[in-house]
Amino acid sequence: MKIIQISDTHISHRGGVTNENAARAVSFINELAPDFVVHSGDVAILDPDEDRDRVAAKRLLAGIEAPLRVLPGNHDVGEVGTRFTGNRPVSSDRLAAFRAHFGDDRFVEIVGDWAVIGLNSEIFESGLPEEDEQWAWIERLPEMVGDRPALLFTHKPVRAPRPELQRPAVSVGAEALPRLEELLARLDLRGYGSGHLHHYALIEREGAPVVSAPSTAFLARSSAGADLTGPGLVQLGVVEYVIDDGAVRPFFRAPVDLVENDLLQIDPLLSALAAMGVEAPAA
Ligand SMILES: [Fe+2]
Ligand SMILES: [Fe+2]
Repeated sequence: MKIIQISDTHISHRGGVTNENAARAVSFINELAPDFVVHSGDVAILDPDEDRDRVAAKRLLAGIEAPLRVLPGNHDVGEVGTRFTGNRPVSSDRLAAFRAHFGDDRFVEIVGDWAVIGLNSEIFESGLPEEDEQWAWIERLPEMVGDRPALLFTHKPVRAPRPELQRPAVSVGAEALPRLEELLARLDLRGYGSGHLHHYALIEREGAPVVSAPSTAFLARSSAGADLTGPGLVQLGVVEYVIDDGAVRPFFRAPVDLVENDLLQIDPLLSALAAMGVEAPAA
């Protein structure tokens, strides 16, 4: 069985290189013929209030032939804190706008003998009613999953690359983490996948692979975000999870035709920043 994780496509209604890369990634995924595909968030280029980007993203991702579930990233629904989303905190309205296009922002899908779980990482520590609803839902996961082996996907990683970075801009926040880990310990989790950091990294935790998926859109090599990512492969691509006999093996995979730009080289991204009234970060 094969599952593909695509992440951080950052699609714009203005078109441009991120859309072209996403289209190439969609064709590549279809060639790999997976059983299931997870998009781990940041479908939209930058502004969680720009519905036209969601429309463009939905249209492009509809080219994926396998069943697809999409999780929200900070650029899709806002986040806790202000950072790069220009004072657009996660809110009920922003969550509703995402759900209107991509369905629920959390899921359990049964794929073969496995459970594939997706959580919305952007609402932890938000204090929104949706956060309480998700906590209650996480408590019910053992009933939904049964004794199946499971994979967990989130936009931001459950654990930050370094303990001092365990905060909502980077990962699940330090306050939410112990409660989440206690609840997740009730499941037979055999692997973790997240996005947000725009690089590929693979570590192991208690025998389970922990994957940071690359973006298909742009690298963050020269940006202020680069110091957050820790060691990893700074290249665009997707992740293939090959599942056999109860074990998960993740592989970095990339089509040859992705165009690798740093974020500040992307015109639609700079246009989106300007439209949001946010100054571009220094290169
Ligand atoms: Fe991203
Ligand atoms: Fe992100």
